[in-house]
Amino acid sequence: MMVHKMKMGFLFFILTYMCLLTPVRQAPPRSPTISDLSIKNMDFAMNLYRKISTYHDKNVFFSPLSISTSFAALLMASGGVTHNELLTGLNLAQLERANQPELIPKLFELLHENITQNGSLKLDQGMALFMSRQFEVQKTFENQTKTFFHADIKTVDFANPTESVRFINEYIKQKTEGKVTEMISTLDPLTQLMVINTIFFQGAWQMPFDPDVTNRAPFYVNNYNVVQVPMMFKDDKFYMMEDVPLGAKVLKLPYQEGVSMLILLPNKGIDYTVIDDEISAQKFLSWVRGLTKTNLEVNMPKFKMEQSYSLHNLLQDMGMTSVFSNSANLTRLSKNGAIKVSEVLHKAVIEVDETGTTASSATTIGITPYSLPRTFRVNRPFFFFIYHEDTNCLLFMGRVIDPTKN
Ligand SMILES: *[C@@H]1O[C@H](CO)[C@@H](O)[C@H](O)[C@H]1NC(C)=O
Ligand SMILES: *[C@@H]1O[C@H](CO)[C@@H](O)[C@H](O)[C@H]1NC(C)=O
Ligand SMILES: *[C@@H]1O[C@H](CO)[C@@H](O)[C@H](O)[C@H]1NC(C)=O
Ligand SMILES: *[C@@H]1O[C@H](CO)[C@@H](O)[C@H](O)[C@H]1NC(C)=O
Repeated sequence: MMVHKMKMGFLFFILTYMCLLTPVRQAPPRSPTISDLSIKNMDFAMNLYRKISTYHDKNVFFSPLSISTSFAALLMASGGVTHNELLTGLNLAQLERANQPELIPKLFELLHENITQNGSLKLDQGMALFMSRQFEVQKTFENQTKTFFHADIKTVDFANPTESVRFINEYIKQKTEGKVTEMISTLDPLTQLMVINTIFFQGAWQMPFDPDVTNRAPFYVNNYNVVQVPMMFKDDKFYMMEDVPLGAKVLKLPYQEGVSMLILLPNKGIDYTVIDDEISAQKFLSWVRGLTKTNLEVNMPKFKMEQSYSLHNLLQDMGMTSVFSNSANLTRLSKNGAIKVSEVLHKAVIEVDETGTTASSATTIGITPYSLPRTFRVNRPFFFFIYHEDTNCLLFMGRVIDPTKN
């Protein structure tokens, strides 16, 4: 489905679902923690989300964790201006310490370990480097990539594109348990290196919806457009809060494995584009902190989405320009000075149904118990965040404008 032509340099793919974020404070001189990393990643995710959403008014779905993780590997490969731009663009400059090049990669490793420690969580994150046989990767980089990202390094004969495409697609298919097939359809024979990152998540609701009461119901895409969707229903105790200044309500739908989905539903009459501008890591944390348990009738559409993004332009807009240019400094990757990143592809798939989700990605709480709405009807455009609760790591983030468009 995606074809990349590159004259030189390497192809960088990210297959994604996303994760991210941890709460709390800034890191002054003390050593940064995985919580610091999570919050930085979250801010990066929100910045990226805003860039994506300015390009169109359609559904959005991606994995911030996947993107951050791939770029953390590139951080190790880069030097000079390229390195600084990546650090700043990823919002990680405050976590870097002089003479500790492995600090940030190590944090990514620890974060991943923390998230997956509870063996029941089905989150497979993988990174692979596909290298041309003629291309010599610096041993230190190769070693670091293995150590911190458990990356597979495979040699590929890009001069034989048909065989390379087959090999790479098979690898991705395996890593995503068949969810992503035929990621690429052609390859430029001059490709030297591809970096592919995959995240696959499958979660079961703590409180599943009953398929027998799922009914077709209207979803108001906008004032002029109403679609019929399969609407799930559940009457139970849920955690929710109302962000009064923002004009939105928040609902938490927990999975069984320490991961939750947070739904952000703009109030009737509030344009989601207004909310787009307000979303931040700080807001997210205030929502999580403000949740209280209440009896609720929840109506939630089943949906399925598959989104692909070419991130080249978006990331350049975020200040990461040199890594894509002829002045890219990737000397730690290879002594060959002519290497640059040609493209960053990101693909994320999600399916939300009665049983759960398969995804292949400080305001005061002005709310009193009696003001709580008794129903939470997700029948208009909404946002969702899938995050790991202990670390506040944001795995995936999305916006659903029209659930029937996948
Ligand atoms: C690339 O970065 C390294 C390490 O930061 C630096 O020593 C080198 O001079 C840079 N090379 C170029 C061509 O800018
Ligand atoms: C690879 O990196 C690890 C961690 O930095 C180090 O302990 C090990 O000695 C390295 N191995 C090689 C072959 O460089
Ligand atoms: C995994 O996490 C869930 C939810 O936090 C918990 O109920 C369960 O006991 C944990 N399982 C293990 C093996 O730690
Ligand atoms: C994961 O990280 C969180 C936040 O730092 C911490 O509270 C928790 O104990 C960690 N879990 C494990 C299993 O290390």
